[in-house]
Amino acid sequence: MGKVHDNIIAADDQGFARLSAALQRGELVAFPTETVYGLGADATKASACASIYEAKGRPSFNPLIVHFPSAREAAKRVVFDGRAEKLATAFWPGPLTLVLPRRVDCDIALLCSAGLSTLAVRVPAHPLAQRLLQDCGLPLAAPSANASGKISPTCAEHVARSLGDRVPYILEGDDACQAGLESTVLDLSGDEATLLRPGTITREEIEAVIGPIAVGKSLMESAGEAMPSPGMLHSHYAPALPLRLNAADVAAGEGLIAFGPTPLPGAAKTINLSEDGDLREAAANLFAALHELDATPGLTGLAAMPIPNEGLGLAINDRLRRAAAPR
Ligand code: TXA
Ligand code: MG
Repeated sequence: MGKVHDNIIAADDQGFARLSAALQRGELVAFPTETVYGLGADATKASACASIYEAKGRPSFNPLIVHFPSAREAAKRVVFDGRAEKLATAFWPGPLTLVLPRRVDCDIALLCSAGLSTLAVRVPAHPLAQRLLQDCGLPLAAPSANASGKISPTCAEHVARSLGDRVPYILEGDDACQAGLESTVLDLSGDEATLLRPGTITREEIEAVIGPIAVGKSLMESAGEAMPSPGMLHSHYAPALPLRLNAADVAAGEGLIAFGPTPLPGAAKTINLSEDGDLREAAANLFAALHELDATPGLTGLAAMPIPNEGLGLAINDRLRRAAAPR
């Protein structure tokens, strides 16, 4: 017998009520799906999504899969084309994730897309995941519920061992779960359907529905755990304006990404990621700030104040460095 964890919640009426309330407060809930356990949070709340990265200890912002109870709910957030409709009919609910363009009125946090114009969506088949999604009435952002770099968990005990106190609630699973292999990730945002991550639904099964698909190049070149994360295969969002890091002053015409109680003076426009110097709040605001400053007419460039390189600051700095890289 292993250690009994008091954050494991039984899948009964009382348990679901507690978990729904926790999700509505923006807290994290780990839950079983038919593939692996997910570490879930309200996908419409950027600060809740920032807590996911914090708990996983991810050093960079990988985009997150958002889970819905039905294709209908997913279609309110992303643009479905004929291919997506056919695949959703064939495989949902089930272990297929589709990367599709965000709708202009999409209410899902930009952090889930890591600043991209696409969103990964999936409708899980597992009855406990389905019940949680329906009870809480929220789309749930959920990566696999393991600490970064560790194996994806298939039972509540694994989650408790991997994440421990960093996840306040873990829904107890049952034997109906978990192939242990993650969902297949298929990018339909371009003309050519591209397999980003092989998974439970096979390439052949997909091709039987929509015809030939491409395979992400670096997926063919590497295998297994050494594989770069699919999100990293894509050119991430980068602002059109040049970005200076660790700014100690501001030049005329620059937009400022500030952090902390004393923003540098003299910026043409300032957005403060967190006046309190709170890294979770800063992570939640990062992509919206980059987009807004980049879209502000008349700016000549962007400057970012230093962000502490600890906790979520690592992921924020990783993102800022990419955004600042010469192109
Ligand atoms: O089976 C699964 O998919 C599990 C369960 C919990 O649903 N989830 C899961 O999530 O494996 P995660 O975060 O461990 O892996 C999702 C993968 C990441 O490698 C990410 O880069 C990719 O999907 N991804 C997510 N959104 C994307 C996007 N907009 N564009 C490209 N890739 C994306
Ligand atoms: Mg994972």
